[in-house]
Amino acid sequence: MYTSKITGTGHFVPEKIYTNNDLKQFFDTSDEWIVERTGIKERRISDAEKNEFPSTMAAHASKMALKKANLEANDIDFILFSSTMSDYNFPNSATLLQDLLGITNHCGCLDVNSACTGWIYAMTMANSLIENGTYKNILVVGSETTSSYNNWLDRSKCVLFGDGAGAVILSRSDNETSKIHKSILSSDSTKKDDLIKKTGMARKPFFVDKENPEMVEMNGQAVFKAAVKTMAHQCASILEETNTAKEEVDLFIPHQANLRIIEAVARRFEFPNEKVMINVQKYANTSSATIPIALNEALEAGRLKRADKLLLTTFGSGLTSATLLLTY
Ligand code: ACO
Repeated sequence: MYTSKITGTGHFVPEKIYTNNDLKQFFDTSDEWIVERTGIKERRISDAEKNEFPSTMAAHASKMALKKANLEANDIDFILFSSTMSDYNFPNSATLLQDLLGITNHCGCLDVNSACTGWIYAMTMANSLIENGTYKNILVVGSETTSSYNNWLDRSKCVLFGDGAGAVILSRSDNETSKIHKSILSSDSTKKDDLIKKTGMARKPFFVDKENPEMVEMNGQAVFKAAVKTMAHQCASILEETNTAKEEVDLFIPHQANLRIIEAVARRFEFPNEKVMINVQKYANTSSATIPIALNEALEAGRLKRADKLLLTTFGSGLTSATLLLTY
């Protein structure tokens, strides 16, 4: 059996920024309300005129990751693309990304939708495909244009989200130190209605209800509580099951949805501030892109180095959850 290691990372965020104050043009809100409840100060918004879509943003992030991994595009032998909103219904965004990167080896291309947790789900699948010897270099991206399905009249939800893409190349490792130790994937379907977008797909293909243009339906307080409880529980389980002391964790990258959620989970493990990666204030919740974006920023800031232990955890619609422990 082989092991896998992260050989390259990259990220891309659109240039256009909506600050909390900018949102006052759409509805009654304030910087104070949003910062106090979420820690978010601004978010990036994709621009169709600049050709910013899930696949194109992912291409920018992936080119950066390829460069850092010192790989050619055709060295990629599988693409896993996590997104809550693909460019099209079909073909999938992974295939569009293959084309944008100029990959001509006809590698397999698969989209994964597990909402905010999708990128860790995809990393877990990629790790299995590397461990069993099927592939050598898998491109795993999370790329999201949440602004394309945000209802910009609904102040209770749209303030939470932003756009961006993160990419990671997971490669077969010849280094015993770097490896993925374990991941935990879960979904609690009894809470599926707590965070749901029903429109635009098979059951409700068109936005027919103009009087009530509800796009994202969310029970915010229930999601908040479940997020803290589930991420803390999964982190405790993964540390216990891998015989890892919490002090051995060098960097903790939780899903960037809300500063209060991040702080509540980090507090359970007494992680000091320097061990917790936080960028939610700049980008808001970019769904399945939050962790790969934060990972690339952590590496660029020198907060993670080879042989460090990295704990990742995330939570989202489903209600799904996913946690992964690796040695970088
Ligand atoms: N600006 C000003 N006032 C607002 C805004 C806004 N943007 N949004 C809502 N309000 C008002 C409400 O109308 C309400 O007013 P009322 O009391 O007169 O009715 C008041 O503020 C309080 O609203 P609540 O919804 O009770 O506020 P709460 O403290 O629960 O915070 C929040 C809401 C921020 C959504 C919180 O529940 C939360 O963060 N939940 C987690 C949800 C989440 O992160 N979802 C993302 C996807 S899942 C994930 O990634 C983990």
